[in-house]
Order: sequence, then C-alpha cells, then structure tokens
Amino acid sequence: SKAQAWSALFSEPMSDLVKRYTSSVFFDKRLWQADIAGSLAHAEMLAAQGIISAGDHAAIERGMATITREIEAGQFDWQLDLEDVHLNIEARLTQLVGDAGKRLHTGRSRNDQVATDVRLWLRGEIDLIAGLLADVQRALVEVAAQNVDVILPGFTHLQVAQPVSFAHHLLAYVEMFARDAERMADVRRRVNVLPLGSAALAGTTYPLDRERVARTLGMDGVCQNSLDAVSDRDFAIEFAAAASLVMVHVSRLSEELIVWMSQNFAFIRIADRFTTGSSIMPQKKNPDVPELARGKTGRVVGHLMGLITLMKGQPLAYNKDNQEDKEPLFDTVDTLKDTLRIFAEMIGGQPGPQTGAKSGGISVNRQAMRAAALKGYATATDLADYLVKKGLPFRDAHETVAHAVKAASDQGVDLTELSLQQLQGFHPAIEADIFDALTLEGSLNARNTLGGTAPAQVRAQLARHQARLGA
Ligand code: ARG
Repeated sequence: SKAQAWSALFSEPMSDLVKRYTSSVFFDKRLWQADIAGSLAHAEMLAAQGIISAGDHAAIERGMATITREIEAGQFDWQLDLEDVHLNIEARLTQLVGDAGKRLHTGRSRNDQVATDVRLWLRGEIDLIAGLLADVQRALVEVAAQNVDVILPGFTHLQVAQPVSFAHHLLAYVEMFARDAERMADVRRRVNVLPLGSAALAGTTYPLDRERVARTLGMDGVCQNSLDAVSDRDFAIEFAAAASLVMVHVSRLSEELIVWMSQNFAFIRIADRFTTGSSIMPQKKNPDVPELARGKTGRVVGHLMGLITLMKGQPLAYNKDNQEDKEPLFDTVDTLKDTLRIFAEMIGGQPGPQTGAKSGGISVNRQAMRAAALKGYATATDLADYLVKKGLPFRDAHETVAHAVKAASDQGVDLTELSLQQLQGFHPAIEADIFDALTLEGSLNARNTLGGTAPAQVRAQLARHQARLGA
C-alpha cells in the first residue's frame, strides 16, 4: 500500500475498508478552490514573516496555478489513498515543486485548514443564496404589483375569514424571505472569521501573522481561541437553521400554490413546464415542483438535525466526527439554491430566448378568487365594525352579526343578499350604506392601517420593497 503522510509509526497498512470509510476526498474535493486560496494566503504570510523563502513562496504559487488548471480541466488525479482534498492537493504540489511544497504545511494543521476551507466555501455560497433570495422576492413583488386589486378570501384555520388583496398575500412571503436574507447576512458575519493559525489545537510555535492571512482572504477577523477555532461548527449549524427556515417558507408557499391550483379552488395556474402529466390520467397537470420543494424541506431540516446532533457529544478539540459536517452542508446548499432558482423562475417567469416575452409565472383567475371571497361571509366582520361605528360595543355587534350570518346561511344567501329590512331586523341602526361596507372592495379599503390589506397600504409596501430590492 501507498505510504501515508504519517506512515513511519505504523506497522501495517490501512485496510481497504477503513480507507474507504475514513476518506472524504470524493465529496470534499469540491472545497478545492477554498483550499488553494487558504494555502496561498498562508504561504504568502509565511514568506512575509521570513518563515519560508521568497523562492519557496514563488514555487508554491506556481505549483498551485498548475493544480488549478489541472482541476479545472478535469485532469487532476484525485486519490482515495490520499484521504481528503487537503492531502491530495498538498501531495500534488510536492510532486510539482519539491521541498517548497513540503514547507507549505509549516505552522498549520488540517484541523485549522479544513475549518478555514469550509468557512471560505460557505461564505461564497451564502453570497449566492442572498442573490437568489432577492430574485425570489423580486419575482413575488412583480406578480404582486399586477394584482393589488385582485381579491381572494384570506383564511384562518383554512376557513374563509376576511377578503384580502392577492398582492398583500404574496407580500407576506416577501417579508419572510426578507427576514431570511437578514438571517443569512447575520450568519455570514460569524462564518467569515479565520481559524487558520490555530494549527492542530493549541496554536503554533512559528511567528504567524494571522491578521494578515485574514485580510488576504477578505475575512472580518480571526478566531480568538485555538481550541474553539478548530472544533467549532456552530456556523454550519446556524446556516442549516437559516436554510431550514427558508425552506419552511418555500414549503408554506408551495402548499398554497398546490391548493390554489386544485380544481376546487382554481385560483391560479402555473406554467406547464413546472408541472407534469400523469401516465394514466390524460387530464392531469400536477404541481410537481411545489410538491417536491415541500418534500425537500424535510431533507434540509433533517440536515440541521444531523449537524446539531453531530456536535453534541464532542469533547474539545477536533474530532474526526467533524468530517461528517460536509455532506449535509453541501446538500443543504445545493437543495436550497436549486429550490430558490426554480421558484424565482416559476413565480416571476423568465424572458424567453426567442421572443423575449415572459414565459413561466403565475396566471391568476381573478373571477374564481372573487367568487370564493363572496362565499363564507368574509365581510361579516365589516358588518360588526359598521355597528361599532354606530355606537354598539364590539361584543354586542359581534353577537348581532352572528345572528345575521345564521339567518343568511339558513336561507343560503350572502349577507349582501339580505334586504335592508331584514338587516334592520337584526339592528335598527343599519342603514342603506351598509351595502358599501359589505362589498369586497369596501372591506379592503376599510383596512387602511399600516400593514393592512387596503390597496393604499399595499401600494405603499410594494413601493418600499421595490426600492429595497431595486426592482
Ligand atoms: N477530512 C478532515 C475533515 O473533513 C480534515 C481534517 C482531518 N484532521 C485530522 N486530524 N484527521 O474534517
């Protein structure tokens, strides 16, 4: 068997099964760019501090440039025997530039190296995710802007509650994704701190300039305790928690899209290319994309559970357990990015390659929404509020309206279909202007408090989001 970096101490080679069990190169090789960036920053500092020569530094830079080309061209020979991305790259560097390559690891351990790599990689991914969260928000804002005056029933307990603007409903999700973006930005602040220079666990005997490495790598600071630096994965757990919340929001939206697409609602359609047919039922168009997003939420939440459980029993400092942080983290990032991309496209629609006309997007059936809002006594609260304005205490008004709703539903009619005389039978203060208050538009317009569904409020929120998102 091939000699290992630490082999002098070992009297027998590692078994193939153990090799396969302990190696991580086939998944952690995706950290290669971060690994090389970290190594180059470390080498530059070693040279600046006089720990390695300028010649060695130049050789390391040359070697890393070659390795970069090899990996990009798909010609790099990743070896299971070399366990992980770090040892693979270092071994190749030494093959290419000799002793200078062997000097790179001075004052460094894979423990601080891997913690640095994961942070650098995750920082880049968080930036991409922030962009995608903005895309999804812009798509929602765009659809909302076209649907301020479209009214659908708002629900509580999935029972018709009060009419709301469809734009208002969509902007609720914009709020959620805006908070998600804030959370990601906050996680990023704690991700972007440098472990390198902590070495294996206790710091190092070489006069390293850790601040310099942090500056080179664009990090906001250095980890202040070497034991914590090599063993902390809070940042990964926090990220998984923030990602889980994004997915939960996507999942709630998915559930609504699925319900709205169902024939019993028929509120919306989504473009055909986000739906699939059935192999047996020719009439089918199934909302597979939102359904899968709802399903994949379980997967991401599972990764959060995996990561947090991974940490709970670990003594200080580094333990090999931590190698298990990568696959859940990678899959969380991949799942989240794909989901956000597809949602941005599905909601907002994309300019088509030929015509430039939008394809995709949500088409709204405003008549179906309106008809649904007119069922279920969505404006009953407005009748109560009307009576309060005539001087009734709210609790009495509530009771009076309950009687009116009971009578209307016994007759199978809406409140607006009762005659003025009938309504006055419930309370003499009711006058002809009640019919304005009981319309869907009247109900919306009346909810003109900040954050309410009145079109004036919704337009103000739209403007705020458009300015914030540069939409
Ligand atoms: N592949 C390892 C990981 O992912 C790198 C660090 C290994 N360090 C060690 N002392 N075995 O965590």
